[in-house]
Amino acid sequence: MDSERNGGTAVCPGSYDPITMGHLDIIGRAANVFDNVVVGVVDQPVRKQKTIFSAQERVAFIEAEVAEYPHVQVKPFDNLLVEFAREHGAKAIVKGLRAISDFEYEFEMNQLNRKMAPDIESMYFMAAPEFSFLSSSGVKELAMFGGDISGLVPDRVAARLKEELRR
Ligand code: PNS
Repeated sequence: MDSERNGGTAVCPGSYDPITMGHLDIIGRAANVFDNVVVGVVDQPVRKQKTIFSAQERVAFIEAEVAEYPHVQVKPFDNLLVEFAREHGAKAIVKGLRAISDFEYEFEMNQLNRKMAPDIESMYFMAAPEFSFLSSSGVKELAMFGGDISGLVPDRVAARLKEELRR
């Protein structure tokens, strides 16, 4: 990790159901740039089906992976993203972009968030090529049909996912 960071605080928001290696790559890269990173875990995503894991468990999965970074915190939230960012004094919201298919949704979110909070800048980190195909929903689908998800999510997440989907 780089020792020189001076970007203030950034929020990395998401449903993280569950966290993937692609998410962790974005969080790690944000942690290289910003003084503090708050990973915001949406309690109950509005546009998605019920989550597989509770917010508490999704937070715990991420905490275990970022434990070595004292300037990265993980918090659940159930209010507007921009309010959550304000509560933490964040200047920026950082998200990952994988493909053009992400763009339309993120563009809409960007405009809504900008309207409410023009002072908070949304920034987009391009997914690393090795993660550009990776999504939580893809991982869940693979796991559901017995596919190999090792290397796509942290080991403890893979184990819990298999356990959960076996039910
Ligand atoms: O794609 P994700 O991971 O489900 O994204 C979640 C989030 C919060 C990043 C996205 O929905 C967003 O940018 N929302 C902005 C609007 C808002 O504040 N909604 C309330 C969230 S609790």
